Amino acid sequence: MDPKRILLIVGGGIAAYKSLELIRRIKKAGMDVRVVLTRAAQEFVTPLSAAALSGDKVYTDLFDLTDETEMGHIALSRQADLVVVAPATADLMAKAAQGLVNDLASTVLLATDKPVLMAPAMNVRMWHHAATQRNLAQLKADGVHFVGPEEGDMACGEFGLGRLAEPGDIFAAIENHLPKSGALNGRKVVITAGPTFEPLDPVRGLTNRSSGRQGYAIAERLAREGADVVLVSGPVSLDTPSGVRRVNVETALAMFDAVHAELPADVFIGVAAVADWRPREAAREKQKKTAEPEMTVTFVKNPDILEAVSKHLDLRPRVVIGFAAETGSLEDYARAKLASKGCDAIIANNVAEGVFGSAHNHATLLDLDGFTPIPGDTKMDVADFLAAYIQKKLS
Ligand code: C5P
Repeated sequence: MDPKRILLIVGGGIAAYKSLELIRRIKKAGMDVRVVLTRAAQEFVTPLSAAALSGDKVYTDLFDLTDETEMGHIALSRQADLVVVAPATADLMAKAAQGLVNDLASTVLLATDKPVLMAPAMNVRMWHHAATQRNLAQLKADGVHFVGPEEGDMACGEFGLGRLAEPGDIFAAIENHLPKSGALNGRKVVITAGPTFEPLDPVRGLTNRSSGRQGYAIAERLAREGADVVLVSGPVSLDTPSGVRRVNVETALAMFDAVHAELPADVFIGVAAVADWRPREAAREKQKKTAEPEMTVTFVKNPDILEAVSKHLDLRPRVVIGFAAETGSLEDYARAKLASKGCDAIIANNVAEGVFGSAHNHATLLDLDGFTPIPGDTKMDVADFLAAYIQKKLS
């Protein structure tokens, strides 16, 4: 695959020196980076240092005839996978929001047809000024992505929002916003993850120890492969992986509805630890303690989401995968589950081994060809294996 190409526009501000570290990171990741310095940026960073780090010519002037014969500003703005503005000054944001062009940076921003990521940096009052906030809202509405600014001490002695995001964070945002070109481009994947919560009354309920980490790792991995991933998630304390659409639910019934609302899909993966039962009714008021030594709750069966999707006559995804979390007789249970649920594969893992909540997992995949041990011992190893498995099944 060709290396990804970043066009980095450096605005003029005290934070511009951090752009050198950003260039270094981009290069280290094997990407190409071409740098545009505004006139003001050149007061803080020399074209020579940016050129030395990027290994390429640095562009500074709209009307430089040599530049324009070598590479016109239109080509410059198009021959990139992502345009990054770091630091994005109040001036650059204002020009981009208005479509004003009076230098190379603003011309590139107007001429580009590629995604744009801005990392703003400015004085806290300038950031909070109504004009900047208006420009921010306009740029977001135009589809520009943002990373930062962060809160902290400023070079001018004030404190607040306006510091440039750290180069590591800007680089992570670059990776997130680079257009995907993976093997699962255009494929829709629906994943359930986490526990469900079945209410007994407004404050209590029935849940389980699932952390959601395995499902989230799979969602992250498949999104990186270019899939359009929808994560139907029970209550967990995890960040949504980048590029993933997350639908929050609490109960098994809500999860069932949310999954069905997302069909048709190419792939369904049921990772959630769905409660098999729910209290027949949830009390509307908080239940009082009584003098009785015992209490009885009647439970009714929840629908089996995996089975319903597997056996869906009209909208069955091409690949349906379930999980079997067991504490014993793993292989027998997995075989029985594959048969009864009608899915294409079951990932069996032994949850007696402290899997819940940890980054580790030891699992085996069972399909019609038999058992295949999954190499590695982390949840991301399981996700890597599944990404390759799904590609094979869809090809
Ligand atoms: O039958 P058991 O709960 O052990 O099956 C586990 C698999 O079935 C998991 O993939 C889980 O996400 C899925 N499941 C489901 N809906 C249920 C129960 C389990 O989708 N009500």
